[in-house]
Amino acid sequence: MKWAVLVGGRGSNLAALLDAGLDVRLVVSHRASVGALDIAAHAGVPARVLLPRADRGPVAYDRELASWLGNAHIDAVVAAGYLRILRAPMVERYPGRILNVHPSLLPAFAGLNAVEQALAHGVKVTGVTVHLVDAGLDSGPIVAQQAVALAPGDTPETLSARLQEVEHRLLPAAAWALDQGRLQVEGRHVTWIQPKTQARSDRGL
Ligand code: GRF
Repeated sequence: MKWAVLVGGRGSNLAALLDAGLDVRLVVSHRASVGALDIAAHAGVPARVLLPRADRGPVAYDRELASWLGNAHIDAVVAAGYLRILRAPMVERYPGRILNVHPSLLPAFAGLNAVEQALAHGVKVTGVTVHLVDAGLDSGPIVAQQAVALAPGDTPETLSARLQEVEHRLLPAAAWALDQGRLQVEGRHVTWIQPKTQARSDRGL
């Protein structure tokens, strides 16, 4: 599958996806001058910036984004540090084909500043969620989750660093599973299926 990665920050998840060998053909950032663009340039992956504009609403933005991805023959998408809600033109073009990584155990602490929300709430455990994107806010079917315990004296920085280590394993694994048709989705329920082994009779045994 040909993948696009939507970014807006440091790009450490983009780096993890590239390291895992995912076939990333296009990177799109909603912000200029972010680390993710440097990572794309270093890896030789085409990268473009699509800035939000006052005269272009979110749906028009996503119509343009979807047309860029269509022109690049993109099959599937990862949102990693992409701080925008995806709208109908994207969600309808790529149903069940967009993954998002979120630094909490959804449905707890959806939206922005999930790490700060968890710290302020006083939870003992938070974590990472990789989910399929639907039209809602961090609301699509959950593909993978892993818990991370809080430590005494945690700050947003220390907790984020431990969460990101988990993201860098969970997200590439989920993207490869989707790439290889190993995710079965029924309503909200996602099952990881084993790769099909060739039947013995097909192999002439
Ligand atoms: C990640 O922590 C992700 O969970 C959140 O934004 C951060 C992006 O980090 N949505 P990076 O740009 O991939 O380093």
